Amino acid sequence: MKVAFLGTGLMGLPMAQRLLAANIELVAYNRTPEKLAPLQAAGAEIVTHPRQAIRAAECIILMLTNAAAIYHVLLSDTSWKTLEGRTIIQMGTITPTESQEIRDAVVGGGGEYIEAPVLGSIPEAKAGKLIVMVGAEPEQYQRHLKLLQHFGAEPLLVGPVGAAAGLKLALNQLIASLTTSFALSLAFIERQGIDVDLFMQILRDSSLYAPTFDKKLRRMLDGNYSNPNFPTKHLLKDTDLFITEAKSLGLDLTSIEAVRHILVTAMKMSFANDDYSSIFSAINEWGEASGE
Ligand SMILES: NC(=O)c1ccc[n+]([C@@H]2O[C@H](COP(=O)([O-])OP(=O)(O)OC[C@H]3O[C@@H](n4cnc5c(N)ncnc54)[C@H](OP(=O)(O)O)[C@@H]3O)[C@@H](O)[C@H]2O)c1
Repeated sequence: MKVAFLGTGLMGLPMAQRLLAANIELVAYNRTPEKLAPLQAAGAEIVTHPRQAIRAAECIILMLTNAAAIYHVLLSDTSWKTLEGRTIIQMGTITPTESQEIRDAVVGGGGEYIEAPVLGSIPEAKAGKLIVMVGAEPEQYQRHLKLLQHFGAEPLLVGPVGAAAGLKLALNQLIASLTTSFALSLAFIERQGIDVDLFMQILRDSSLYAPTFDKKLRRMLDGNYSNPNFPTKHLLKDTDLFITEAKSLGLDLTSIEAVRHILVTAMKMSFANDDYSSIFSAINEWGEASGE
């Protein structure tokens, strides 16, 4: 089976590389063609327009930034029957509402649509250890299970289209809120002159501990947010998606809106393309940087 891969950014590239390593015939498209060089070297067919990739394969995987990018790549060209007989596997982070609207557009164009957002980042993508959450009909899930297992050993069927997108947003709300909460305590510990090692030792032994704290500790202490797996701008995007979707659910969103404010501060401090643990500098240094 030939597979098309559209969107070879931070996550898409290692995911596409896994398919090639498994000897799956691959045709790849990316808006910025330079990013396709490693795939071309590994034997992928490279195309310069998404239409060529969609024509060439029955199964099309999308790993794009947001819904706007998906519409641009997949649905802007309605002058020909692009999607007939095609299955779209959408793996980026978008809202359930957006995912259902895109499904309707794909089905209206004669294609099939399933969503399969992922938890985990570049190291997990490289190792095939992503947590893949699938929103699809059970039969569609079974039909694409083998392909999805290249990205994570146990892709989980969550429910129909929208369910996996919603689960993913709930998890990313936790990423934003947990990281902000940890950064505030860490900054407080430093300013109180308390030993950081002692703080971490007690935290690790307590039920408050989350492994992500240790993953981000070194970056925060060093103020080094370079070579991100997940940039600040994407966590702000996902926080905005969560707030948009949650607004209709009657929840108190004060806490995540405050987290959003801190992410916006990190963006103003030029950390948009750096690791999202830049939240720490937004909390710790913004007063100094802004003269407040
Ligand atoms: N990084 C992570 O750890 C992680 C983990 C789980 C899920 N995700 C989600 O997965 C998706 C991709 O993330 P990523 O980290 O790989 O992001 P990324 O490196 O920014 O890649 C985004 C991809 O979308 C393309 N794109 C954006 N706007 C476009 C447009 N208008 N038209 C055509 N192509 C467009 C980019 O093309 P160019 O190369 O030309 O810019 C690139 O291929 C996002 O939804 C993200 O939230 C990311």
